[in-house]
Amino acid sequence: MFVFTKKSDLKAHLDQIKTAKAKIGFVPTMGALHQGHLSLMKESLKNNAITVVSIFVNPTQFNNAEDLEKYPRTLDNDVAKIETLSKEILIYAPSVDDIYEGNTNSASFDYDGLEFQMEGAHRPGHFDGVGTVVKKLFEIVQPTNAYFGEKDFQQLQIIKKMVQKHKMPVSIHGCPIHREPNGLAMSSRNERLSAEAREKAAIIYKILKNTKSKFEKHSAQEVVAYVENEFKKHADFQLEYFEIADEATLLPCKRKSKTKHYRGFIAVFINNVRLIDNISLN
Ligand code: PAF
Repeated sequence: MFVFTKKSDLKAHLDQIKTAKAKIGFVPTMGALHQGHLSLMKESLKNNAITVVSIFVNPTQFNNAEDLEKYPRTLDNDVAKIETLSKEILIYAPSVDDIYEGNTNSASFDYDGLEFQMEGAHRPGHFDGVGTVVKKLFEIVQPTNAYFGEKDFQQLQIIKKMVQKHKMPVSIHGCPIHREPNGLAMSSRNERLSAEAREKAAIIYKILKNTKSKFEKHSAQEVVAYVENEFKKHADFQLEYFEIADEATLLPCKRKSKTKHYRGFIAVFINNVRLIDNISLN
């Protein structure tokens, strides 16, 4: 396996192996890899001659120092998991310095308002941090295609907007959410849950599935009230938000329109761990 810790080494290697026509697929991650990540890599392997995976816990996208400190770091395990897919995948696992060169300030991005909704409202600076690191990673890897999971649906829309606004020569692909057998969306953060909390967290997807059927007959406001009420019955959970939003603008749905696609978005704490999930509603 090739595991690069320096961008200069990765770039030199890519220069050596890529031909003019070779497509480069890129899967940016923060490690603690699960089946969801591996599915992105499989997609990249199918469609590109070269696949690069980055493993980097990006400090500028954390607005909470404890969350950053507790974020799981499992590089050896991650490399072993990637190896089960292909020994050809190039792994870039840099230090903070290799990426930020001594300046860990985020750049400021205008995502046409996508950044003010949901995660952006609850995690100030988060999407500037994501934009900063993804832009830097794209400049290093110069991918043809880049793959992101739909679990972070708002992030996916924001990256698409950044690429469009900055005219970056890369195609962004969203891939479906992977779930544990009990329905819990796969996430690196699940590793921090106790076995009991992980089981209880199955309720999140159960409630989301109910919102889908309720949304057929009820208003968005009624469905939101339903979710808020359900979580009041489960004292282990602290609901941060549940919103129904237009997939394209991420603006909350006030009145349903037949021409729009809506999603339910949730952020909820259990065991002091913040979990997010979403579901397509129509
Ligand atoms: O989704 C993630 O894991 C991160 O936000 C990303 C895209 C790798 C940027 O650090």
